[in-house]
Amino acid sequence: MKTSSKNFSTRAIHHGYNPMDHQGALTPPLHLTSTFAFDSAEAGGEMFAGERPGYIYSRISNPTLDLLEQRIAVLEGAEAGLALASGMGAITAALWTLLSPGDEVIVDKTLYGCTFAFMRHGLAKFGITITHVDMTDPANLTSAISEKTRVVYFETPANPNMRLVDIEAISKIAHASGATVVVDNTYATPFLTRPIELGADIVVHSATKYLGGHGDVVAGLLVGSAEQVSQIRLFGMKDMTGAVMAPFNAMLILRGLKTLALRMERHCANAQKVAAMLEASEGVAKVYYPGLQSFEQHELALRQMPGFGAMIAFELDGGIEAGRRLMNRLTMIGRAVSLGDAESLIQHPASMTHSTYTEEERAEHGISDGLIRLSVGLEDVDDIIDDLAQALADDAVRAAA
Ligand SMILES: Cc1ncc(COP(=O)(O)O)c(C=O)c1O
Repeated sequence: MKTSSKNFSTRAIHHGYNPMDHQGALTPPLHLTSTFAFDSAEAGGEMFAGERPGYIYSRISNPTLDLLEQRIAVLEGAEAGLALASGMGAITAALWTLLSPGDEVIVDKTLYGCTFAFMRHGLAKFGITITHVDMTDPANLTSAISEKTRVVYFETPANPNMRLVDIEAISKIAHASGATVVVDNTYATPFLTRPIELGADIVVHSATKYLGGHGDVVAGLLVGSAEQVSQIRLFGMKDMTGAVMAPFNAMLILRGLKTLALRMERHCANAQKVAAMLEASEGVAKVYYPGLQSFEQHELALRQMPGFGAMIAFELDGGIEAGRRLMNRLTMIGRAVSLGDAESLIQHPASMTHSTYTEEERAEHGISDGLIRLSVGLEDVDDIIDDLAQALADDAVRAAA
């Protein structure tokens, strides 16, 4: 079936696969193979030379991964996709390919902890300049960008403090200077934001999160132009990182994508109610959720996102001690890192996902020690709210520091 005229959910279920080409099998075959036989020695040589299409070795490509790559590309509105071993595999493969010594990458102030560590302790070691800019105001990028800037990189919403970046405005400024725009779209997913359609060049994902959706696989995806994706495949993935996705994991992500729209609708609805409940609760000092009127960038959220996602950050009057106590009193919501799963999960960025920042770096990058991150799951929303309410009912959780 041609899916070019179809809508998001239909593409997520059907794009790129016809059961009739596979003996009627409703679900795509899983190609558990490391290598592929050549018709002849000459044919193998021609494939290596790029003169003949075909599969060579699963660190380069594999038919099960191919289907996933086509599906994520069509969902993101991009020419091509690439499946990798993890979100960090996608980020590092892209940046090793795009950057050379002497180049500069301008990145937003707030980044996921391991992305921050890769930039600060990885790329910087190899002669690449990392410049952090507060991209919530595009004028800051205009002031900072120069001909040395090869890449502009950001997350929106950003992990963990939910700051948004105006993708269209930032892409215009970056392109006027010849820089490539890379967006981490893990929090929003293509269901809520499609950065390529807003002008970005490359989108990276931790598919471990909403795209997989069930907490049973670590995986990464990226999309971009056919030329850029091919370069990242043949250099960043094949030679620099070897971070290829396993075919079995591709099958799990293909399965997750089929229900992405459905899950995101429920995630968003649940999170809106949980954010409102938290904001109205005694002892809660501040809630960061793009769907709240009180959210500083609510107008940008309305413009850029048809729904506001299911990640919430909040601070308690009692600071981190009250936060730890709240987390320990929860009976259903899991104390765990990661996000985007059916289960609601809560964690403390300063001591967990963002402990790759020093205390001074966290202060400089807007990640307060009292911040708690909640991934609102797919349980009945009343049960999520009840669990939070009983934890917040404790005097020591509500008390000011
Ligand atoms: C926004 C964001 N980007 C990238 C990653 C890295 O993904 P992975 O854990 O799949 O390597 C994460 C992981 O938490 C993340 O939250």
